[in-house]
Amino acid sequence: MRHRPRGQHIIRFEGVGLRYGLGPEVLQDVDFALPAGSFHFLTGASGAGKSSLLRLMYLGLRPSRGRVTLFDKDIALTRRYELPALRRRIGVVFQDFRLLDHLSTLDNVALPLRVRGVKESEVQKHVPELLSWVGLADQMHSKPPTLSGGQKQRVAIARAVIGRPDLLLADEPTGNVDDHIAMRLLHLFEELNKLGTTVVIATHNQFLVDRFSQHSRLHIERGTVVEPEDEA
Ligand SMILES: Nc1ncnc2c1ncn2[C@@H]1O[C@H](COP(=O)(O)OP(=O)(O)O)[C@@H](O)[C@H]1O
Ligand SMILES: [Mg+2]
Repeated sequence: MRHRPRGQHIIRFEGVGLRYGLGPEVLQDVDFALPAGSFHFLTGASGAGKSSLLRLMYLGLRPSRGRVTLFDKDIALTRRYELPALRRRIGVVFQDFRLLDHLSTLDNVALPLRVRGVKESEVQKHVPELLSWVGLADQMHSKPPTLSGGQKQRVAIARAVIGRPDLLLADEPTGNVDDHIAMRLLHLFEELNKLGTTVVIATHNQFLVDRFSQHSRLHIERGTVVEPEDEA
């Protein structure tokens, strides 16, 4: 792997372990690399470490050991001031949404574009379009506290995809919607993937994994990442 040309992988984990505080290692000997433009489901039982692995991937946590290489940068050697620029290349759908309650749906989703200085006329065109697509046309001017769990989840997804990030990480992004909407959201992730985004979706929704079985899987078993073929 070391001899392959740079830039072929979006993210690479080598011998990564993670412990919280003085607790036991919840992830150990994690080795994988995601090719640019690939699409993966991240599966594993509740408590297996899916959210923890995603936190390592979006630089929300540093590993206790091993090496994480993101966009060809060894994270351990990356200066603190360089991290925000790396993070802006990643769209994250948090399991608990993390919306800004004082902003409307439209303003929440517009945030990544406005931070980047995208023209307001573009913002006003693209954000409503995407919100309509995820079924939130009528909630455009509502604030998150008035939305249902499933609606908040779709706002969080829209905010994560609006800027066409290089890497999209979604933690149980369909946990609060029915299967029909879940499929629609999966199609949205696929569209983004076709535009070049590398996608990782943590889910325990076996229906979805089966319906979209063409995508590869990262499976967490006994604290480490295995290819599903390795399970037997
Ligand atoms: N903030 C935390 N502090 C301490 N332990 C944690 C924390 N977050 C998760 N864990 C532990 O790490 C393990 C993996 O959890 P998690 O990554 O949330 O799994 P999953 O998302 O697959 O359900 C579990 O044993 C959990 O209790
Ligand atoms: Mg989780």
